[in-house]
Amino acid sequence: MRIKEINFSGKKVGFYLDAGFEHLEKIVPKEKAILLTDKRIFSLHPHLFSGWNTIVIEGGEQHKQQSTIDEVIGQLIEKEADRNTYLIGVGGGVVTDIAGFVAGIYMRGISFGFVPTTLLAMVDAAIGGKNGIDAGVYKNLIGLIRQPDFLLYDYSLLKTLPDQEWANGFAEIIKHACIKKQGMFEDLNKHSLDYYRNNHAALASLVEENVIIKTTVVQNDEFEQGERRLLNFGHTLGHAIENIYELPHGYAISIGMICAARFSENIKGFKTTDTDRLKALLEKYALPTAISFDKEKIWGLIKLDKKRAGTTMRYILLESIGNGVVHEIPLTQLEELLGQIS
Ligand SMILES: NC(=O)c1ccc[n+]([C@@H]2O[C@H](COP(=O)([O-])OP(=O)(O)OC[C@H]3O[C@@H](n4cnc5c(N)ncnc54)[C@H](O)[C@@H]3O)[C@@H](O)[C@H]2O)c1
Ligand SMILES: [Zn+2]
Repeated sequence: MRIKEINFSGKKVGFYLDAGFEHLEKIVPKEKAILLTDKRIFSLHPHLFSGWNTIVIEGGEQHKQQSTIDEVIGQLIEKEADRNTYLIGVGGGVVTDIAGFVAGIYMRGISFGFVPTTLLAMVDAAIGGKNGIDAGVYKNLIGLIRQPDFLLYDYSLLKTLPDQEWANGFAEIIKHACIKKQGMFEDLNKHSLDYYRNNHAALASLVEENVIIKTTVVQNDEFEQGERRLLNFGHTLGHAIENIYELPHGYAISIGMICAARFSENIKGFKTTDTDRLKALLEKYALPTAISFDKEKIWGLIKLDKKRAGTTMRYILLESIGNGVVHEIPLTQLEELLGQIS
């Protein structure tokens, strides 16, 4: 196990990397903690929860809604959780988002930590302190920014992760490579999903590389005034596709990244051959790169995106692989670019 302490504004967060789940009780005593997880993880890994006070929710994005928050708060009251209680989210991004949000509002804020159990949560969702829920179809519309005390990484939990969730995680990893790290793009090109899945050391080092990318971007801009926006690469169109076609998050942003690469060709002179390389890499990691979508419906949702500022949209484009930039695209031009996507 390696412990890495990362400073965010006013808060030190402990990253327990390559740790065993059993280390959790050394971080937080069992009697002070309440674990939050979803039904699937609870049934796949029942041993993790023995002896821990646990709240089990229905899993899935459709439950990342206010009704689940009310239910969790009800159970916290029932379990007599107080200001000294630690809430620990053990799960994918849905669970960690809910755990962080509830911990932020219960009694005006209690301590919390995460044990991410999906690749996506390990490299992305559990990092950075954004804790949010959806309001109907509007993704992550409600939430707050507050850092957890710690994150514990036990890679053995990924043994039960289905193929689709591996691909979902790789979508965010490829996103990180596109906006920040060309070297990682080339490494991913050399290897394959199965290579990382079956090679503990390679996976550990890839996850940690991504932890560093995400924490560095967040540290530079915790409250999303500039650089943090780069993490939205592929996400504007991605979220719209995710909502309308109910695709998994990673699949949808994979398609969103290809569209953003095409827009980048048009606006930033991004090379067409690099869009082709990105497409090949996404496909290598079992991700879709196109879908025939209803442009009017998609446009209706994109217009409402949080990244809209008046008559322009802050869109994340690529100058080259490894170099993402924020670019304000007038809505009229964006609509036109969208119309050109085949
Ligand atoms: N807060 C942020 O900054 C941030 C960033 C990116 C994504 N997110 C959010 O994260 C969510 C997506 O995360 P996710 O893909 O982890 O979703 P998820 O929590 O829904 O997990 C995906 C599925 O995998 C199952 N699962 C989890 N761990 C498992 C394991 N070890 N073995 C077998 N099955 C397992 C879950 O039960 C679920 O069915 C979205 O809601 C997204 O908005 C948040
Ligand atoms: Zn994402």
